[in-house]
Amino acid sequence: MMKESVHASSKGVSTIGPTDPAYQQCIMPDCAATFSVDETYAACPKCGHLLDVLYDWDRLNVPRSLSAIEERWARRDDPRCFSGVWRFHDLLPFAPADKIITIGEGQTLLHPSNAVGRYVGMKPDHLFLQYEGMNPSGSFKDNGMSAAFTHGKMIGATRAACASTGNTSASLSLYCSVTELMKAVIFVGSGKIAVGKLSQALDYGALTLQIAGDFDDAMARVQDISRELGIYLVNSVNPFRLEGQKTIMFRVLEALRWQVPDWIVVPGGNLGNSSSFGKAFFELKQLGLIDRMPRLAVINATGAKTLYELYENQGLRWNDGHPDLATVDAYSQKMNAEGLRASTIASAIEINRPVNLLKCIRALEWMDGVVRHLSDQAILDAKAQVGAGGMGCEPASAASVAGAKLLVAEGVISPDERVVCILTGHQLKDPGATVAYHSTDQKHFEKVLGSRGVRRAAFANRAVAVSNDVDEIIKAIRLYS
Ligand code: F0G
Repeated sequence: MMKESVHASSKGVSTIGPTDPAYQQCIMPDCAATFSVDETYAACPKCGHLLDVLYDWDRLNVPRSLSAIEERWARRDDPRCFSGVWRFHDLLPFAPADKIITIGEGQTLLHPSNAVGRYVGMKPDHLFLQYEGMNPSGSFKDNGMSAAFTHGKMIGATRAACASTGNTSASLSLYCSVTELMKAVIFVGSGKIAVGKLSQALDYGALTLQIAGDFDDAMARVQDISRELGIYLVNSVNPFRLEGQKTIMFRVLEALRWQVPDWIVVPGGNLGNSSSFGKAFFELKQLGLIDRMPRLAVINATGAKTLYELYENQGLRWNDGHPDLATVDAYSQKMNAEGLRASTIASAIEINRPVNLLKCIRALEWMDGVVRHLSDQAILDAKAQVGAGGMGCEPASAASVAGAKLLVAEGVISPDERVVCILTGHQLKDPGATVAYHSTDQKHFEKVLGSRGVRRAAFANRAVAVSNDVDEIIKAIRLYS
């Protein structure tokens, strides 16, 4: 059955047949309804919770060692081997090879950084930055978009939509313009998206709807409207997207010569990444391809810390598939009653109602995880250190480094453990925040960052004003270098 709507009505619900090695299943064990991968749902049509894509591994040809996948590196003329997502097709085998959509995503790098490691408090050679800014649209989203487009092609979708804090929309728009498979409709909160990201959606030709509200409003509206109009939804409620994001972890392992690190530290917004990382390691362990799980740290911004509140303060746990949903509802009602809105300079994670909350607490259970939150001050200081000692990143990405630093200070992470921080987005995504941090103009600094509680720029690299004169320029170079 080919359906474009991600919210198909329960009338159309079918269960999988015995011949399907890949299928969708509700994450809640008490429901556990299963569906074919040819169907598209943003939520389980039976109980309304999230869906997973699952595999009957015994009936699939999974390599016996991870290094067997490396042979594909040599076949770079085949786009499916060149892709850092589809090189791992065996570990996300929901689509036939001829349906795969790739635009060269996933050519990313695990960069060891002693400079950032010193800042975090690690011993030399123990801190790694997984730089996802090298993706075609400049963020990790392309890993998932490639998988969602592959599924979209399988079911014959012609239009795709998302709500976004900017990177999902940039990625969707790019995949639409390059592949010409679907038309993009994007929902962004008014004034809530960094200029680099907005410029991408406009340039790639997406229908861009600026909703009078924030991301949480846009997310609610896009779900209503994609249901109403039968548009394929590519937010991370789409379980196929998360399959693509698993490959970020596969590439981390590949770069570490298949050794499992001690910690994965990742910023938390809508919680798709953390959810997919948990699933990646869970499945590798299930398959006997790794012998232990790394620990997971998910880092919120202080101005958007729903996960932190629920997990660390209220003790919400996955509890083997029986989380205390009343706790989640009560917190949601409290946010409504208090009119609480997310607010952080790390606009990518300015989210108070993460759609993957339950999958994330499941990942935290599987990976013995912790959650922390950091102020905008701490995030921007960490970002400046990543810029000075790494590839640079956008503010949200630096939450991972700020979080690792906090966890080392708390003694949760030991300096001789191996820590991988995920740098989720490119440095050029949000130049406004960067320029304000390094600005010599105090008024500009105050205007952009003061309202966020940022008081100082401890690691600012300020431009030096010098007159248009050779002697003066030489004097300045001698003085400052
Ligand atoms: N870092 C960046 C750069 C992001 O763009 C996002 C999410 C996150 C971290 C958080 O990841 O949602 O998987 O927990 N951006 C989404 C967007 C929400 O619309 O672009 P998550």
